[in-house]
Amino acid sequence: MDSSQIASIIKRRQTWKVLAPVDQPIIHSRETLDRGDDALREAIAVAGWAPFHYDRAVDGVKEPWRVHVLDQTKCRSLATEFAGLFPDIKPTNKLPTMLSACGALALVTWLPQFSHGAHGNNDAVAKDKQTQVDEEHLAATSAYVQNLMLLLTADGFGTYWSSGGQFRTMPMFEHLSIPANERLLAAVFVDYASDSSSPERIAGKLQDQRSPSDKWTRWV
Ligand SMILES: Cc1cc2nc3c(=O)[nH]c(=O)nc-3n(C[C@H](O)[C@H](O)[C@H](O)COP(=O)(O)O)c2cc1C
Repeated sequence: MDSSQIASIIKRRQTWKVLAPVDQPIIHSRETLDRGDDALREAIAVAGWAPFHYDRAVDGVKEPWRVHVLDQTKCRSLATEFAGLFPDIKPTNKLPTMLSACGALALVTWLPQFSHGAHGNNDAVAKDKQTQVDEEHLAATSAYVQNLMLLLTADGFGTYWSSGGQFRTMPMFEHLSIPANERLLAAVFVDYASDSSSPERIAGKLQDQRSPSDKWTRWV
């Protein structure tokens, strides 16, 4: 293994939103699901080698991230329930159609310690230190998400990092039993059939707009 192999995976990872009508969902074969779920389970575990700076110490767990996985069955049922849960969503909202196409959805959250209404014993910690600690919990979780997507890319699966829309909201947290002290960083849609040409696929809007590195690097 050398850096060129890692570079090729980094460059191969691209956003592809995969959509299917809610009344005509993609139903993967048992074999495709088993292969995808096994790869996702392994990627979730290995991505945990991401760096993290502070012991978040919630439930005896040091990592600042948490992962909630919705499998194909849950994604398809949520797609059909979505409009009932969120009666005000626009007809153009893509989340139900993405829930109808993905192999699985991994919701990656992080645990603010001082901000976003967190109630820690923080009297002794200066405000700027509190900000730094929470920024670094979030930064570590971002490293986790990128690890996860690169591992899935290397295994041939498609990924899309969404901010989450309605998945960020308290009604959805309650629906999925996600603890209220977590905040969603990434709703990672995992495409189990990225070689299939049939479903509608939409690229990330900045996919072809990268600048050369000398535009954002200086050597001092
Ligand atoms: C923190 C974060 C949040 C994102 N949220 C969204 C989103 O809500 N909707 C969306 O269309 N793309 C979202 N993206 C994906 C970007 O649009 C995409 O990465 C960008 O267009 C570059 O394309 P690429 O991923 O193919 O390189 C998000 C990416 C990141 C890093």
